[in-house]
Amino acid sequence: MIHPDTVEQILDKARIEEVISDFISLKKSGSNYKGCCPFHNEKTPSFMVSPAKGIFKCFGCAKGGNAVSFVMDHERLTYVDALKYLAKKYHIEVVETQVSEEDKQKKDIRESLQVVNNFANTYFKQKLLDSKEGRAIGLSYFKERGFTDETIAKFELGYSPDGRDIFTQEALKQGYKQEFLERTGLTVSGETNSGQTYVADRFRGRVMFPIHNLSGSVIGFGGRIVGNDPEKKLAKYLNSPESELYNKSKTLYGIYFARTEITKKDECILVEGYTDVMSMHQSGITNVVASSGTSLTLEQIQLIKRFSNNILVIYDGDSAGIKASFRGINMILEEGLNVKVLLLPDGDDPDSFAKKHTSQELQQYILENKTDFVTFKTRLFAEESKNDPIERAKLINDIVHSIAVIPDKITQSVYVSECSKTLQIAENILFEQIQKISAAKGAKDSALYIKQSAPAPKPVIQKSQVHPTIANDLYFNEFDIIRLLLEYGEFDVFIQENEIKVKQYMYQEIVEGEMLLQDAVFAKIFDIYFTSMQSGIDIDKQLLYNEDQKITNVVVDIKSQDKTLSPLWKRRDNMVETEEKKLNELVIETIGTYKKRRLQDEANQLREQLKEEQDITKITEISGRLTLVSKLITIISKELHHVS
Ligand code: CTP
Ligand code: MN
Repeated sequence: MIHPDTVEQILDKARIEEVISDFISLKKSGSNYKGCCPFHNEKTPSFMVSPAKGIFKCFGCAKGGNAVSFVMDHERLTYVDALKYLAKKYHIEVVETQVSEEDKQKKDIRESLQVVNNFANTYFKQKLLDSKEGRAIGLSYFKERGFTDETIAKFELGYSPDGRDIFTQEALKQGYKQEFLERTGLTVSGETNSGQTYVADRFRGRVMFPIHNLSGSVIGFGGRIVGNDPEKKLAKYLNSPESELYNKSKTLYGIYFARTEITKKDECILVEGYTDVMSMHQSGITNVVASSGTSLTLEQIQLIKRFSNNILVIYDGDSAGIKASFRGINMILEEGLNVKVLLLPDGDDPDSFAKKHTSQELQQYILENKTDFVTFKTRLFAEESKNDPIERAKLINDIVHSIAVIPDKITQSVYVSECSKTLQIAENILFEQIQKISAAKGAKDSALYIKQSAPAPKPVIQKSQVHPTIANDLYFNEFDIIRLLLEYGEFDVFIQENEIKVKQYMYQEIVEGEMLLQDAVFAKIFDIYFTSMQSGIDIDKQLLYNEDQKITNVVVDIKSQDKTLSPLWKRRDNMVETEEKKLNELVIETIGTYKKRRLQDEANQLREQLKEEQDITKITEISGRLTLVSKLITIISKELHHVS
């Protein structure tokens, strides 16, 4: 952890225009700078940098952020590494927070395990290439499967001799500690019947695939039996167990060899196995990684996301797991990545397909056959659902669920129109379904369950990379609340003849009125705003430099809406003045609309409940509440009318 004081220092010193002009050329434009956006292709500059606000914003692709997030996005660094980069640029000494004794021990253990793995890796490689047994069994196996010397060297393939403890004995002889040999899982120990302890090798007579982390260190191994085991007594693959070094769910096989190409191609190809990755590399396609037999995890998706937002999933032609893997696809969509899918011909996996075809044919095949997931699912189920309305409804429902998890509304609408065409269903029906699903999900996520009465979809306004999970009008309503809070929180307004600060009024209506914001990101901002206020921390900084990118995005959105950023809004002083003048009405209207909408939702929900409720006391209770809510709605409607 970087010490908070250091972070503070970095944020104080870093000037956004200096940071950005290390990467692109900026021209002064009024009090701002502008240049060509590095995040999308453009010839006329629409990328603005505001030194005063500490933000950048592209009016072409909607990307925006602060100095730290610029470095993160442009250089694909983590938050901490971006801070370290800036510290270096500004000659600030990075003070790390005190490492605890426990952390230090963990680090020592990891280092020891790494040393053992390095030894094992060298050992297995040597056995494959230099020992008689290794060459006769291991090397000839790889050669038979068509792997070249170059591929074998690149992936550091090896061989573990067939014997009880040949490797372990050698390692012990060379001074490696048994404790660490066991912790890496390379050695196992046990007790014989007569109570004697023994050690043994985990991998015996197997060809070895080392697993590399992002920086190329070997953190674990996969070992494959040589040839086929007709009796199927042995597991085809054996893998290192989880250790302080190897965390299966966070690892992608091949990421070290693929990372640069993934960035360059802006696409990551996902396959199932070790040999698939190797064969694709050998065919010249190097932006490939494997999830290694397990279903894709969230951490693996996030790892890919550091390099690209586009994933192409390749399935074996006969993979029984395709349908089961849809959960994986939904997870990818939910993280805001784009998914394409490719199905190989019957009986082929990427390895066998790559071997049968030239590199060019392979690339051609991929290019021509990759499809988006809507088309893919539709085709996959087309046979079964052709004449069966129930199956068809299931298919539609399934696809709609996938579209509903996509955080970006624009992407969503693209898929809706695709789906509408392929399945021949009206777009508004699909939108309605999606909103129902999102609403149910939003309700599950939030403290207050409010049923949404799927309103007709509004035309989608481009509102940068924020991630709405709730119905459109409510979303924009909540956005306005956050905007007013951040821009005018300290201003005074008159509400029913009482002078009150905007922030106090909002706190009173939203927190004390138990009407917490529904959108998770807005709710978090609201929360941070009021907690920072109590602790005296600089709220602006807290929010703008938040580690959660979604928060940063909202703040940048609000700040860049302020017309100073755009040359179009030269009459800025005027505008601000009018907005300030109208602040009173604006606040009352925004909060009023919000309350009304939420109450209407509650009323709808109560009516639904009434339909089903049998118990007479409960019915009385619900009707009572419904009457009250209806009255409140009438009052608020009148007030709103009065304002506008
Ligand atoms: N796997 C595993 N343990 C097994 C079987 C498979 O860990 N018992 C993992 C391996 O990472 C393997 C991947 O799942 O690469 C895919 O399995 P499979 O398709 O069966 O293997 P292939 O990669 O096709 O291996 P090969 O071509 O060597 O048969
Ligand atoms: Mn295979």
